Amino acid sequence: MKDINWTTLGFHYTETDYIVRSAFHGEWRDGRLVGTWEKPYVTRDKTIPLHVSATCLQYGQEAFEGLKAFRGADGRIRIFRWEENAKRMQRSAEALKMAAPPTELFREAIRMALKNNMEYLPPYGTGATLYFRPLLIGTTARLGVGPGRDYELIIIPSPIGPYYEGKFHCTTFIVNRRVDRAAPLGTGAYKVGGNYAASFRATEEAHMEGYDCLFLDSKTHRYIDECSAANFIGIKTDAEGGTEYITPRSSAILPSITNHSLMVLARDKGYKVTCRKIRLEELDEMSEAAACGTACVVSPIDRVIDPGKGRMYVISREPGPVLTDLYNSLQDIQYGRAEDRYSWCEVIEE
Ligand code: PLP
Ligand code: COI
Repeated sequence: MKDINWTTLGFHYTETDYIVRSAFHGEWRDGRLVGTWEKPYVTRDKTIPLHVSATCLQYGQEAFEGLKAFRGADGRIRIFRWEENAKRMQRSAEALKMAAPPTELFREAIRMALKNNMEYLPPYGTGATLYFRPLLIGTTARLGVGPGRDYELIIIPSPIGPYYEGKFHCTTFIVNRRVDRAAPLGTGAYKVGGNYAASFRATEEAHMEGYDCLFLDSKTHRYIDECSAANFIGIKTDAEGGTEYITPRSSAILPSITNHSLMVLARDKGYKVTCRKIRLEELDEMSEAAACGTACVVSPIDRVIDPGKGRMYVISREPGPVLTDLYNSLQDIQYGRAEDRYSWCEVIEE
């Protein structure tokens, strides 16, 4: 076990011993990319020789993922829903005309990244996990505008702590009406680096003021899209007094694996689960709200500020009971404290 202060880790990069790499070489035939992936291998070198004209550098041919391995209460190691990350990376690859890493290659690369960095897997009870950042880049040297024929999948592990300091406490979001994250039919639904670079103007502005950024739909600026690098969820009481879990439907947001998991859990608890356009003003009717994602899990929102309209929505000063319960149910599965009824975790034998 590495000498790391696990309990004080935040969402920052800590270099581990090894990364995993696998290259694809192919050619375009009749509009199709045909080629082969080499076997993944481990290396200590965290730098890669890359041509200055590589398509990832010139034209942003890059996609990434984020997933976690957990040391459970029973001492066993679980990787959460890696297959969904593999599928999403394949969709991102298709969206940017890149080679899509096959599911089995993705799995093998993640397992190699874990097995070769076991000393960096945080112990149970510390709140820290081993995060994997799978990265897919275009490596062909090109000046003509178009996709390359060579790609590389790289798995970068890092032990991480909570995304937001203080683990389960409220965060305030601010609306930015001057910067859009993604166009309605653009790449917002894919996990590609360009979306994040495009959002930095808004997110950094929000951080300067001590907040995080809430993105509205870029066409009308009326509906909630996403919470910086996470999906939005709200809790309402419906007309019959039941609990409603509500989350935006939008072509420009990333389909979150965490959000999907929470929706399944919410349905099982008897809540109504609704996925539809959500007007910003509907925040007034919500008793709880949160950002959700692999990094931030469930991060409750206390207030949303909309300076453009001179409005502030106060949601709940403390994390509310419904989202706290959902957060606990999700973490119970991830840490092996509850039965994995949906087969979301792959247990890794040591
Ligand atoms: N939305 C964006 C823009 C993200 O970057 C992420 C993080 O991956 C999410 C939502 C949450 O997705 P997931 O729960 O699959 O991590
Ligand atoms: C995640 O939640 O895993 C993410 O990748 C979001 C962000 C930190 C980029």
